[in-house]
Amino acid sequence: AERTYIMIKPDGVQRGIVGNIISRFETKGYKLSAMKTKEASKELLETHYSDLVEKPFFPKMRDYMMSGPVVCMVWEGKEAVSTGRKMLGATNPLESNPGTIRGDYCIEVGRNICHGSDSVENAEKEIALWFEEGEVMDWTCHSKDWIYE
Ligand code: GTP
Ligand code: MG
Repeated sequence: AERTYIMIKPDGVQRGIVGNIISRFETKGYKLSAMKTKEASKELLETHYSDLVEKPFFPKMRDYMMSGPVVCMVWEGKEAVSTGRKMLGATNPLESNPGTIRGDYCIEVGRNICHGSDSVENAEKEIALWFEEGEVMDWTCHSKDWIYE
């Protein structure tokens, strides 16, 4: 099944929105395959955001991402990558729809609470980057026949 990498950024942790975000993915029907807290290093962030390192906002964004712990998660299920992005909402929270995580809980692009992989290929890369082998579980959810037909 498809897996996506969802990360709660330091502002989401500081503001106590961790449980809410987990709950949204759980109640949607996705399966939690891995989860941990982590302090992101400079090197890790430069790899994760390799397409953004040259942007003028990158140093500030990297400091923000290193300002406290993040929560790293892998969620699994049908079209988890594209649906995960929809659940997060648009990158700029002023443009995210109400009902999405960013639409409901934040205001600025530099404090937008969560990250979600933007393609299946990038999801695989990000999961391999943020998790060690053995940290991502393969398990059977007993609700699966009530979630999928
Ligand atoms: P992620 O799920 O976090 O990867 O967001 P995204 O895929 O919707 O956007 P993108 O990958 O283009 O940017 C990654 C992150 O960089 C965003 O979520 C923002 O936190 C930050 N970012 C992007 N553009 C800007 C900007 O113009 N200013 C600032 N301060 N931060 C930005
Ligand atoms: Mg992105």
